[in-house]
Amino acid sequence: MSDRRINALILATLVLGLLWTYLSPRQAPVAKTPPLPVVVPEMVPLVTGEEDTAIIFTRAGCPVCHRIPGIAGAEGRVGPPLWLGTSGPQRLHDPLYRGKAKTVHEYIVESVIEPGLFVAPGYPVETMPTWYGAKLSALALEKIAEYLEVQTAEDAAQEK
Ligand code: HEC
Repeated sequence: MSDRRINALILATLVLGLLWTYLSPRQAPVAKTPPLPVVVPEMVPLVTGEEDTAIIFTRAGCPVCHRIPGIAGAEGRVGPPLWLGTSGPQRLHDPLYRGKAKTVHEYIVESVIEPGLFVAPGYPVETMPTWYGAKLSALALEKIAEYLEVQTAEDAAQEK
């Protein structure tokens, strides 16, 4: 091979190498915060409340964002753990609480159908879906509240 050919070959290799470096997809940086899970109304069927409580939670997609003691697979970390037996009284006594609930039970129902009224401290705003009132029957909401109001952080710790 002539010197010119060898030079051309070296040049071509260099150019290809550079192109490769610049055009190849970058290794995605290790995400510090995972992307927010998206739960859209189309993903959630109407929940009549006749279902078992565990099914109500899973159909509604709550486990995607919440830890729920006693519900298999409910390990979401986007919203607060739903041990309202522990956190409910804290919310009601929070000086910033502006909702209408007087009991933890009412607070849970309110949080599900009007999440914007009070945002649990330390958690993202406008993330909890606002359309659950259109998907969950009154009975389903009752069952959700009945279940969550007696869950405590201590019980959840013992579950592990
Ligand atoms: C896309 C994520 C997402 C989904 C799905 C979701 N939530 Fe939430 N939820 C949040 C976030 C974030 C908060 C905290 C901010 C706030 O209070 O609005 C929250 C707050 C709450 C609170 C108040 C908790 C507290 O400690 O004060 C309750 C109760 C609750 N969610 C219940 C539910 C139930 C029940 C479902 C299913 C029917 C559900 N959530 C589905 C994200 C979600």
